[in-house]
Amino acid sequence: MWVLDEPAMAKAGAALADVLRAGDVVALSGPLGAGKTTLVRGVLAALGHVGEVPSPTFAIVQPYDATSLPVSHADLYRLEDPSEIEELGLEDQLLDGALLVEWPERAGEAAWPQALRLSLQPRPEGRRALTWVVPGAWEGRWPPPQNLT
Ligand SMILES: Nc1ncnc2c1ncn2[C@@H]1O[C@H](COP(=O)(O)OP(=O)(O)O)[C@@H](O)[C@H]1O
Ligand SMILES: [Mg+2]
Repeated sequence: MWVLDEPAMAKAGAALADVLRAGDVVALSGPLGAGKTTLVRGVLAALGHVGEVPSPTFAIVQPYDATSLPVSHADLYRLEDPSEIEELGLEDQLLDGALLVEWPERAGEAAWPQALRLSLQPRPEGRRALTWVVPGAWEGRWPPPQNLT
């Protein structure tokens, strides 16, 4: 577990960007306002994205392809049924890029078994606790060796 202030979140995003590959899925859990989109901004900045990273709550998926690795940023908060996932074309985008998903729970329990699962929890003093569950596909890649706190 790491306890991160906002600048440390950008560093955590950069550390994730360093090890991210095409085909990877990162599931970002945590309540509204936990900092999921903030972490995605850190990843995208480290991959060379310049400009805004809106919360894709209404669009559901926002692709970025002017980055060193194409990234799709999804926010499934407004998904009403896991069956809607297929219409989003996320699997196609994984062929040459990575997928960062907020509210992955909306896709159902069985979705993305090889996703790196990151969870953010606000702490009383304001920082965020970041915890993770690492599947086989991510062994040796997460957590990174550098100290972020
Ligand atoms: N590590 C942090 N420490 C303190 N505040 C943070 C941290 N990460 C994000 N925030 C703030 O929390 C708010 C919500 O962040 P956001 O990334 O939009 O959350 P989410 O996507 O989980 O709903 C923003 O105002 C952001 O500046
Ligand atoms: Mg968000």
